Amino acid sequence: MTIPEPKSFLVKSFGCQMNVYDGERMTELLEAEGMIQAVDGAEADLVILNTCHIREKAAEKVYSDIGRLMKRGHSPAPMIAVAGCVAQAEGEEIVRRAPGVDIVVGPQAYHHLPALVRKAARGEAALDTAMPLLSKFGALPARRRQGPSAFLTVQEGCDKFCTYCVVPYTRGAEISRPFAAILDEAEALVDAGAKEITLLGQNVNAWRDGEGRGLDDLIRALDRLPGLARIRYTTSHPADMSEGLIRAHAEVEKLMPYLHLPVQSGSDRVLKAMNRSHDAASYLRILERVRAARPGIAISGDFIVGFPGESDAEFEETLRIVAAVNYAQAFSFKYSPRPGTPAAEMEDQIPADLMDERLQRLQALLGAQQLAFNQATVGRRTEVLLERPGRKPGQKVGKTPWLQSVHLETDAAIGDMVEVELLSAGPNSLAGAELVKEAA
Ligand code: SAH
Ligand code: SF4
Ligand code: F3S
Repeated sequence: MTIPEPKSFLVKSFGCQMNVYDGERMTELLEAEGMIQAVDGAEADLVILNTCHIREKAAEKVYSDIGRLMKRGHSPAPMIAVAGCVAQAEGEEIVRRAPGVDIVVGPQAYHHLPALVRKAARGEAALDTAMPLLSKFGALPARRRQGPSAFLTVQEGCDKFCTYCVVPYTRGAEISRPFAAILDEAEALVDAGAKEITLLGQNVNAWRDGEGRGLDDLIRALDRLPGLARIRYTTSHPADMSEGLIRAHAEVEKLMPYLHLPVQSGSDRVLKAMNRSHDAASYLRILERVRAARPGIAISGDFIVGFPGESDAEFEETLRIVAAVNYAQAFSFKYSPRPGTPAAEMEDQIPADLMDERLQRLQALLGAQQLAFNQATVGRRTEVLLERPGRKPGQKVGKTPWLQSVHLETDAAIGDMVEVELLSAGPNSLAGAELVKEAA
């Protein structure tokens, strides 16, 4: 059955920042084709679900979303595309489970979206989960519209094969984009209004090129870009935390004092079973060096509780490493067995109620540390990059160098950098007052 080619579209991204980046690039691509971005899914002729496969809940969400779109009230169901990591992991299986899906497109193939849309409109099967290395980047239109804070993917995929994780299967092998292409894109982002760039990769600090350059060289090159005020990067792996990158934290002023460095567990036995290449002590040593390079740096991390076989004593070791590090922010999850990963086949899967209890205890500790970190910054004067309007009139929300959200009253514009005194802190944000610059 043929259907009219869609005129409007909406991309809904789930999961990590790399999906947000991919979602923005799909939007730019379809706009370059003359399609119009819809305000919400109820109006769009084409809805693209840009999915995440990391945990079962995330992956199952796509099917409830498809169900909702099929039952959409007023008009015929939209053309539905499933993109992202569920598309890569499940491929045709998606269409078998949800026949309303018209297009399945993997994270390395979305530059083919316009052709897939035309195929789907002709009533043909439109599936593309090929993994051509890097070819999407060259095929996408140049960056345009941009808010003050932009994402820039520099590295994709993962060769680490942690035993619980689907990313090496959904995103493919570790690959770095070329230096010059990244700088070009960074310049285009700054020209389009970006003041801050966050370099992205599943293992961003594994970025390297054929000429022996590493992520620190890339950061130093961005540091020279006029108009760019802030540089961040995420997510890093302890194994790739090079001396040069640590030195960059001491020397590059635009590199913000924030490091997301997941440890996952505090137990060496569990870390080994996870196939993490670090142990608790080597992780702590890295942070010691990072903190010596950049005193006061905010440390953030990821944790998994209830990995198969995790004993009470091993979980206590996770609480101990958290106590030793003192995190400014953290993400913690219950272990979720993923199809095709070694850990899903391991014995001693931990019962759900025990996982719940461990997660609660861990989150209570991490939450207290986050609040304490925020409270310790109260009274400080610092720069805040204004990113969006606040809820109340006259109010705007921005970020400190330590990635805290700050609400303040100001007449300055979104994208401006303002001097702020931090007045009070909650667990997730702070309130501040703009400091008026004295006339010279
Ligand atoms: N490359 C990054 C993480 C990518 S996935 C790194 O290695 O640090 C983001 C986070 O999801 C991981 O750090 C981990 O804490 C969590 N995660 C990954 N697979 C998971 C699973 N099967 N169950 C629960 N959490 C998982
Ligand atoms: Fe997954 Fe491990 Fe790779 Fe991170 S390093 S993406 S957790 S396999
Ligand atoms: Fe999810 Fe894929 Fe990112 S599985 S976390 S969207 S790399």
